Amino acid sequence: MANQKILIIGGGGREHAIGWKIKQGKRATQLYFTPGNAGTAQIGINLPLKATDISGLLNFAKEELIDLTLALPDDPLALGVVDTFQAENLRIWGPTKAASELEWSKAYAKDFMKRHNIPTAKYEVFTDYEKAKTYIEKGNLPIVIKASGLALGKGVTVAQTKEDATNFLKKVLLDKIFGSAGNEVVIEEYLSGVEISIHAISDGKNWKIFPASQDHKRIYDNNAGPNTGGMGTIAPIPFVDNALLARIEKEIIAPTIIGMAHEGRSFVGCLYPGIMLTKEGPKVFEFNSRFGDPETQTYMRLLDTDILDIFDASIDGKLADLKIGWKNISACNIAIASKGYPGDYEKGKIISGIKEVATEENIVVFHAGTKLDENGNLLTNGGRVLGVSATGQNLKEALQNAYSAISKIKFEGMQYRSDIGKEALAMLE
Ligand code: AMP
Ligand code: GLY
Repeated sequence: MANQKILIIGGGGREHAIGWKIKQGKRATQLYFTPGNAGTAQIGINLPLKATDISGLLNFAKEELIDLTLALPDDPLALGVVDTFQAENLRIWGPTKAASELEWSKAYAKDFMKRHNIPTAKYEVFTDYEKAKTYIEKGNLPIVIKASGLALGKGVTVAQTKEDATNFLKKVLLDKIFGSAGNEVVIEEYLSGVEISIHAISDGKNWKIFPASQDHKRIYDNNAGPNTGGMGTIAPIPFVDNALLARIEKEIIAPTIIGMAHEGRSFVGCLYPGIMLTKEGPKVFEFNSRFGDPETQTYMRLLDTDILDIFDASIDGKLADLKIGWKNISACNIAIASKGYPGDYEKGKIISGIKEVATEENIVVFHAGTKLDENGNLLTNGGRVLGVSATGQNLKEALQNAYSAISKIKFEGMQYRSDIGKEALAMLE
């Protein structure tokens, strides 16, 4: 059979990992990434197209007779890339603009959860600065303020004082630091507990839940410093048992997929709620309408089914018939970032040690922000640069393997967290 041509929208660690998993499968494929990195260039062709250039993507898919497009990042989903491709009868995987509103409007997601009795933090939505300020003054601390729209993971603050809360509110609603993403704000109750990531793949009617994973979003050890895109993940989480997963499926995943279908917004894609395990039970603190990054890197190491079979079943409404297999091992993925990230950072530092590490049996290095120069040197080219993924018979072993590999990788100013999975391991003791 001729190569199946697959266009992967996005070019970071998540996209490299999905491409890597496709290549591990049984089908012959030609992969294209937009715009991609030095890692994706090894398994496909990098295109000089932005993930948000919807008409450029559409033209490419038509001209190259692409068989399948995977819409992975949040921005193109919010721009309606799936609707645009479907209108032209092109095969694409991901939620429509209406379905992905769960992610691109936190105000919509909160009202949806209220309508469908899905456990979440108490909240109010505001567009008026004075009204929001009065609400904060009357409320308890800490208090959580969120720009409603997409803001690169920076649109949320957990304020410990009313002054901090009001300052952030002013920046969002009046100074418009996130542009129109800050036209509305959600102000919500602070949830205390352990944070986990849940992923469920859906065909609009049926769903399959993945093992639980856990990201570590702050830049420094012990969850200190500002939020990032995600500094490291583990999966499965040893303290999330089947009973808890079944409760999350019943109270969160099922009512969301069924509720979206009832509201005429069938959710075909990956539903990824961020969940706080509170004393009263699991509660949603955000919805994402896509695979997490770096959760995906960990999942791809555990998955025992051809991922193209999963995408096909999701698009074709056949998920109920598909059995998804998971390896009975543990995985982790640790991000290595540039100095200064998540603030300003320099690019163009030479990376060494990757080739040596890549020969180790349990290790796969996924690229996020990398590129090759004309002499073939591997250079840093982003905030998060690499994700070092490892497997092991248990979490402890996977973490040891990953950290041992990381000690061989070098570039100027590299930073990573040395405590990924530590909290989960401690909870086992
Ligand atoms: P988000 O952009 O919604 O993922 O939020 C970023 C981070 O803020 C999350 O990873 C949580 O650690 C934290 N957060 C969001 N909402 C709440 C909440 N209601 N209570 C406590 N922490 C929260
Ligand atoms: N793991 C964080 C994110 O994908 O948003």
